[in-house]
Amino acid sequence: MGAAITDSGRTTQTPTPPRARPAVRFDAAVRAAVGQGLLSESRPVAGFVDTDGVRSSVTELREAFGHSPGVLHTFAAKASSLIPVLRLLAECGMGCEVASPGELRLAVEAGFAPGTIVLDSPAKTREEIRLALALGVAVNADSIDELRRIDALRNRDSASVLGLRVNPQVGGGAIGPMSTATDTSKFGVALRDPGAREEVVRAFEARPWLTRLHAHVGSQGCPLELIAAGVAQTYELAEEINERLGTRQVTSLDIGGGLPVNFSDDTVHPTYTAYVDALTAAAPALFSGRYTLVTEFGRSLLAKNGFIGARVEYTKDAGDRRIALTHAGAQTATRTVFMPDSWPLRVGAFTEDGSPKQGPELAQDIAGPCCFAGDVVAHGRKLPELAEGDFVVLYDTGAYYFSTPWAYNSLPRPAVYGFRSTAPEGEVKFATVREAQTMDAIAAESGLAHADALTGLG
Ligand SMILES: Cc1ncc(COP(=O)(O)O)c(C=O)c1O
Repeated sequence: MGAAITDSGRTTQTPTPPRARPAVRFDAAVRAAVGQGLLSESRPVAGFVDTDGVRSSVTELREAFGHSPGVLHTFAAKASSLIPVLRLLAECGMGCEVASPGELRLAVEAGFAPGTIVLDSPAKTREEIRLALALGVAVNADSIDELRRIDALRNRDSASVLGLRVNPQVGGGAIGPMSTATDTSKFGVALRDPGAREEVVRAFEARPWLTRLHAHVGSQGCPLELIAAGVAQTYELAEEINERLGTRQVTSLDIGGGLPVNFSDDTVHPTYTAYVDALTAAAPALFSGRYTLVTEFGRSLLAKNGFIGARVEYTKDAGDRRIALTHAGAQTATRTVFMPDSWPLRVGAFTEDGSPKQGPELAQDIAGPCCFAGDVVAHGRKLPELAEGDFVVLYDTGAYYFSTPWAYNSLPRPAVYGFRSTAPEGEVKFATVREAQTMDAIAAESGLAHADALTGLG
């Protein structure tokens, strides 16, 4: 397709072709994980992160925004809240977006410089704000009330960049719970509500230190045009504030993350380049350098760079259905189990030595170990017939899956390993990112130290 020059001087190629990130590239890692005992009868489930894949995703992000001066790309820690993963991203030159005191702690431990950390969350306590300001971490207030708290807590010497999150109310996407820019979303100042825009302008007027506008219009299920429309509204608001205040007080725009991920096949789409094209179309001056930009991508950086491997413990027939009972269920694929239509996952079948399983396909339910009937990660999926001792692989689970498990049934948090293939030998090297949770740790977390607390109450 032809090239076009945009108002910002950027050359766009439309449409951006989808890129492939083939799942078969993980075959060697699955075989090696089984060969090295990381997946076995006694270690029946684990998460895996492809570190070269993560590095190339960061490179693609940088290249897509490369024409824009002054962009800080932060990684949304919620997408993979694991210190070694965060440290890898810090080493790649990224900053970190955090949304809780726990995530802030992880970001600091991972080694992000405070000036590259951004704190967002809709329910920051005074203590949390105080800590962020003391560290010099950027803070996006979620409401005017939160700005009032910052008024009281802010020390003139704080190095923190301070911003206000707005909800441009441009509408929702295909997944209601993932849509942050609906009319009634809990996030940010609802910009189209009566009087809200004026209140925002006055909030900036009263606070010369307030220099950033933030919007995160996403996430999964939102079309690029919707996300870009929200960013464009935010850009226009910044222009209006600066014009009305007669000074360029707003100097940076945090445009959030939210790029959706394709879970149905190997192609990476939409790409960061397609997103930049959509942003350029919606807000032609966004990349002119008028504002420095912050991004907060999570899922699009990690999802296709990770997988879950799980052993098949049993198979059975019920009614006319074949069921494979595996160790990957709601504890590690929570969203998929509870909203299977919104979060479908691709499943691969592997033999007990970790080789791709061949043979005629059979429709099978891939169930997990949790003790409730709905604990099924794939329904009626056609795969070579699974047997006890085989392994299943859940693809595209590098973000928001094994990194953020659910403690239901006191199932242990699965181990996580990073890996690299060393060319040309094709040997796969693993490193432990997180140990599987031990039974002692589960007992401790479940109140072992207070075992007599209730009976002792009398
Ligand atoms: C404020 C904020 N920024 C960034 C993200 C990351 O979004 P995604 O992983 O879709 O890129 C989220 C996700 O919930 C978020 O709430």
